[in-house]
Amino acid sequence: MLSVSGLCASYGAIRAVTGISLEVGEGRLVTVLGANGAGKSTTLRAIAGLHRPVVGSITLDGQEIGKLPSHQVVRRGLALVPEGRMVLAPLTVEENLLLSRHAGRGNEREMLAQVYELFPRLAERRAQVAGLLSGGEQQMLAIGRAMMTAPRVLLLDEPSMGLAPVIVDQVFAAIVTLHKQGQSILLVEQNAEITLETCDFAYLMKRGEIVAQGTGAELRRDAGVLEAYLS
Ligand SMILES: Nc1ncnc2c1ncn2[C@@H]1O[C@H](COP(=O)(O)OP(=O)(O)OP(=O)(O)O)[C@@H](O)[C@H]1O
Ligand SMILES: [Mg+2]
Repeated sequence: MLSVSGLCASYGAIRAVTGISLEVGEGRLVTVLGANGAGKSTTLRAIAGLHRPVVGSITLDGQEIGKLPSHQVVRRGLALVPEGRMVLAPLTVEENLLLSRHAGRGNEREMLAQVYELFPRLAERRAQVAGLLSGGEQQMLAIGRAMMTAPRVLLLDEPSMGLAPVIVDQVFAAIVTLHKQGQSILLVEQNAEITLETCDFAYLMKRGEIVAQGTGAELRRDAGVLEAYLS
């Protein structure tokens, strides 16, 4: 359903992404692994319409979206959970969630119920201001905000970043639950171990290029590949 072909993205003279291609099929959990500076965030931001202009093609169900601004990309059904979470600190949990509802395609009450079912912790803290939440709770809220737009494909940028291992496990358990519910997901990560365990298919990215791809099991079998490209 989501297809990226020959994507290039630059910051002035710096070429951050140089001709990558990837596919996310309906209901799939696909991941892009790469070290710092590989171009993972730039790729997600380009897909979400936050990085323009880009060279190459980005299509959703065969329709080109690579030239659309981000608000139109959200309406077509892509939602980005950005690196660093970016929740609105002075607003409550519920206000953060409700602010996203107009951006996308969802029914407000249904989506709110789904978010609170996935993250009971957010339901408990619905009246708490977001700035007082722990890092893990803020990550849950960031995912919840994206879910409020009822995305066809959820784009997740390093959800494990800066979180304690036990909290990473909780966040990934929620991602697995979403996947089981049929949510299509494109997940960008540096944490290879937990990511390869959960994904249907993985791409390895280095210096702006895809350098290896395969199922989690295939890439894990070839430990040398991972070591070479993630360091
Ligand atoms: N705003 C910017 N201006 C100039 N160069 C940038 C900018 N943002 C990123 N870059 C460069 O583009 C390249 C890719 O960066 P990007 O943030 O996409 O990588 P990443 O894989 O997400 O890294 P990280 O794991 O650190 O988040 C890097 O060389 C980076 O220095
Ligand atoms: Mg990044």
